[in-house]
Amino acid sequence: MNVCVLGLGEVGLPSAKYILEKNMKVFGYDINESAAERAKRLGIEATTDWKKIPFSQIYIICVYAGLKNDSPDFSSIYDAGRKVIEKQRETSTSEKCLVSIESTIIPGLCRKLYEEIFKWQVHLVHVPHRFWSGDPVRHGVRQRRVIGAIDGVSMRKGWAFYKDLLKIPLHKVSSIEIAEMSKISEQTFRYIQIAFAEELKMVCNELGMNFDELRTACNTKWNIEIPEAREGIGGHCLPKDSKYFTSLTSSARLVQSAMQVDDVYKKIIHKLK
Ligand SMILES: NC(=O)c1ccc[n+]([C@@H]2O[C@H](COP(=O)([O-])OP(=O)(O)OC[C@H]3O[C@@H](n4cnc5c(N)ncnc54)[C@H](O)[C@@H]3O)[C@@H](O)[C@H]2O)c1
Repeated sequence: MNVCVLGLGEVGLPSAKYILEKNMKVFGYDINESAAERAKRLGIEATTDWKKIPFSQIYIICVYAGLKNDSPDFSSIYDAGRKVIEKQRETSTSEKCLVSIESTIIPGLCRKLYEEIFKWQVHLVHVPHRFWSGDPVRHGVRQRRVIGAIDGVSMRKGWAFYKDLLKIPLHKVSSIEIAEMSKISEQTFRYIQIAFAEELKMVCNELGMNFDELRTACNTKWNIEIPEAREGIGGHCLPKDSKYFTSLTSSARLVQSAMQVDDVYKKIIHKLK
């Protein structure tokens, strides 16, 4: 069985490596030459030339999707989708490939791709990644993941691949939209927790109290886990994914407030330096 991973970055590369270690034939595709080179050094047949990728039974989309003018921009996912369907149409076999989108997206995108780009010619699942490079063993490729599918056959195919072949523990949800929403909800929840820690630290500064001591004291309660307040909420996922969340509604008041808290906190931290 051929598996092709599109996007060989922080998430796609360890995923491709993991699949290779399960003795499957893995092809990697990236638009960036150095990403493809890095993958080749790990034994993955990687290229920036899509024509060199053979028809694969499974395509895993791990490309980075970001923001454009502060709004979700999924052009890279569309691009990857178009490439996959091109391969599917070129093959003489009537076998439909399985496409798994692991990148973080918003509810409705999978269905839109399925109807507008894939035109019902593939099986489709969404298995959002939860990768954390800080602890790739416990929180890497082989951690519990949510899986949602466009239909029952896709779910069976996705389950057989991830659970039976890759041995990745899965939590099945009843629709692909729930899977899409689960990822940005997790991320936004985390964003709010950190923003609360930032607010608490600013209040402590105002009151002349030691934030670290207060935090440690609160965290002795069984259901409290206040995170650290560091340099402001950064990284290339949490702020982006929270913006995906707010793009869905005009009533995300708590999240909007958390974003304002983080802005103020960053300015204060900057001044203190
Ligand atoms: N980094 C993490 O810890 C993490 C964790 C969970 C989920 N995610 C999500 O996974 C996705 C990928 O994130 P990442 O951190 O791996 O990003 P990354 O920037 O490290 O890697 C993305 C790769 O995709 C490639 N790419 C971009 N457009 C492409 C295209 N059209 N075709 C082929 N390749 C293309 C880039 O060249 C890059 O090598 C994002 O949606 C992100 O939100 C990331």
